[in-house]
Amino acid sequence: MLAAGVCALAGLVWVGSRATLSATEPPGRIEMWAAARAKTWLIGRAARVAPPFARPTGRAVAAGAMRFRGECAPCHGTDGRSLSDIGRGMYPRAVDLGSPAVQAWSDRELFWIIKHGIRLTGMPGFDAALEDDEIRALVAYVRTLPDTPAPSGDGSAGAEPRSRP
Ligand code: HEC
Repeated sequence: MLAAGVCALAGLVWVGSRATLSATEPPGRIEMWAAARAKTWLIGRAARVAPPFARPTGRAVAAGAMRFRGECAPCHGTDGRSLSDIGRGMYPRAVDLGSPAVQAWSDRELFWIIKHGIRLTGMPGFDAALEDDEIRALVAYVRTLPDTPAPSGDGSAGAEPRSRP
């Protein structure tokens, strides 16, 4: 009993001694794992009750690419794949939007993320800034990113959007 108490105390001291508010410290593996699980569950749950994703048509990718440069590039990089200095300096870091982990979100989940943001991270919600059509165009553009290895010139405007319902 005493031994268990001592171990628990030692554990707390160890965790406390490692705690930091530094944004430049790389995240630990356990923290990354726990945050990713919580994020997947919470966003999946929220997006399930959101209206179905209406796939944009026409020049949505080109419109999304334009919008991306103004709203998203400051953190995710002009190509969405190579982080800016700001995105690299955040905690948690901004992410490569063409990566398999990001592309695994459904269209509806991506829409939800862009509209509402991710609390306790640097990812802002764009609900007040963008119309739903503009967010849908951004989702369409994000879907083209795996085909545009960094750095890409004009962001694949005009390509056929992929989808992951
Ligand atoms: C101020 C910096 C910043 C801006 C501007 C920003 N993001 Fe993010 N974004 C982040 C950060 C930081 C994360 C990582 C959040 C996390 O770890 O959960 C993120 C995460 C995301 C994710 C989820 C990735 C994942 O799998 O967790 C998507 C999708 C995304 N951003 C898209 C966008 C789009 C589209 C825009 C522009 C409309 C945008 N972001 C603008 C900082 C930003």
